[in-house]
Amino acid sequence: MTKIITIANKKGGVGKTTTTFHLACTLAMKGLKTCMIDTDYNQANLSQCFFNDEELPKDHLGEVILERIEIEDAVYQVRENLWLVPINDSNGEEVETRWNSVRMREFLLKKKIDRIKKNFDVILIDTPPTNTLVQDNALMAANGFIIVVKPSYFSNRGLDKMLRSAEQSLEENPDLEFLGILFNEYNQRQKGNYKRKQLDIIRNSGNPVFDTILRVDVRLDQGAAEKKSIHDYPVGEGENGKADFLSIYDEIKEKIG
Ligand SMILES: Nc1ncnc2c1ncn2[C@@H]1O[C@H](COP(=O)(O)OP(=O)(O)OP(=O)(O)O)[C@@H](O)[C@H]1O
Ligand SMILES: [Mg+2]
Repeated sequence: MTKIITIANKKGGVGKTTTTFHLACTLAMKGLKTCMIDTDYNQANLSQCFFNDEELPKDHLGEVILERIEIEDAVYQVRENLWLVPINDSNGEEVETRWNSVRMREFLLKKKIDRIKKNFDVILIDTPPTNTLVQDNALMAANGFIIVVKPSYFSNRGLDKMLRSAEQSLEENPDLEFLGILFNEYNQRQKGNYKRKQLDIIRNSGNPVFDTILRVDVRLDQGAAEKKSIHDYPVGEGENGKADFLSIYDEIKEKIG
């Protein structure tokens, strides 16, 4: 069965897109047929990891939502074993209006993804920080989700909000499984201080938490800009990022079989 994993958090800038990008590249590198779906029609950051602005495809998820094309026409192979359904932020308002007005609007993304899921081992859905309808859609379409958090006070508050919303999705979608909370940008040098405390609060909250902590690595940021996976950098560059994503891969592989 295709594992469809939504990368979520209602808080912005915590690393959802960075995680989706480098995790998808890692899954593909390991031989899994992987497809990424970019649902963030206001930012299109994941699509920008593969296409320059002027190259963003005209046939994209927004056009699928507008019923102008089928989703099959918006699937692009971007690397070996890796595909992307991009989004173009040029007609975000039109897409939003349409998405809000269709029948069974919470299930629109699921309906579309169901048509292509048989082609892939794993589908990763990157979500926007603010759009509840798109976030709900992504959780209805998925059978697993990961919440990416930065260990900080505000991030923990955002996490509470996200967890409440996810609880409802877990009730409404019996296939959905909470794979875990993934800590991002944890600075080891700050161990033992305030950040460590925020981390412990989450670890003791009773929710599933990944053992892997994604450290700060400038190559993760640079990779998005240079359209390079963390694994494309030569030995000696991005070593923390490479190790952390291989470690997340191992944990995910164990959870999804
Ligand atoms: N572990 C990390 N090391 C270094 N830079 C990181 C790391 N994680 C994320 N970043 C950088 O932090 C910024 C925010 O990350 P990203 O865009 O992935 O967050 P997001 O949750 O998708 O944001 P939004 O909610 O706006 O979609 C980016 O510039 C990204 O490259
Ligand atoms: Mg993002």
